[in-house]
Amino acid sequence: MASSGRPGAGMAHASRGDRGDNGDGWADVDTARRDSLTDVPGGVRLQKVLAAAGVGSRRACEVLIGQGRVEVDGEVVRRYGARVDPRSQVIRVDGRRIPAREDLIYVALNKPAGVLTTMSDSRGRPTMADFLGNISERLFHAGRLDYDTEGLMLLMNDGDLAHRLTHPRFGVPKTYLADVAGPVPKDLGRQLITGIELDDGVASADRFRVVERAGSRALVEVTLHEGRKHIVKRMLAAAGHPVSRLVRTQIGPVTLGSLRSGMTRQLSTEEVGDLYSAVGL
Ligand code: URA
Repeated sequence: MASSGRPGAGMAHASRGDRGDNGDGWADVDTARRDSLTDVPGGVRLQKVLAAAGVGSRRACEVLIGQGRVEVDGEVVRRYGARVDPRSQVIRVDGRRIPAREDLIYVALNKPAGVLTTMSDSRGRPTMADFLGNISERLFHAGRLDYDTEGLMLLMNDGDLAHRLTHPRFGVPKTYLADVAGPVPKDLGRQLITGIELDDGVASADRFRVVERAGSRALVEVTLHEGRKHIVKRMLAAAGHPVSRLVRTQIGPVTLGSLRSGMTRQLSTEEVGDLYSAVGL
């Protein structure tokens, strides 16, 4: 992989004057609140943690702190020098949690067809490790895709987030583009959303749309929060429209975008924050 480490793009743009900041970052400071945070002994300065997480420059982070936009364990902290423990404390900017631990890695992979969603294979077939370089052994993957299914896989060394993204209890929606046998009837969406009888019970989609009709084939988009094996293929086949190609384009708030097949990218600070929100972290 080209690079690893901290999430990518910056998160917040602090501009002076935004929220009544008087220019020195200490606007509206309520002294009692400002000093309410007990410093964590041996902790790291809050603005340093924010900057390392990709929120912005240290100066921009100081302005955010002064503007009262930063919370540590649910408390607004307006003091630049506050020392926090990024390993144990929950830090939010504008309500969005930031990945504060420097050792955390969050990666999106556009998995090609013909690749297993494992990190090794006793039969020597291609696996995701082939696309991740030397960080692969440290990563958990959130969910699976079939060998012949392409598209978005999320990988991370944040076990709690990976678990929640995978577990059906958290109901994270996933979106797929499917190339299916057509023509597609007008009520296919209604059938899928109402529920399709499968041999292991009814399965239903959250959303459906026809993206393109092309003679005897159609491209359809299905969103669902089901985690059962081959679920999209089974639902569409049961409705009379077998799938010849399947691509996952979105997991919760994260989209595949223009990431090319076989390529990886680091998730941005915002994307990681939105994933935390999607699973209640
Ligand atoms: N549904 C499928 O049928 N296959 C996948 O890989 C993912 C969802």
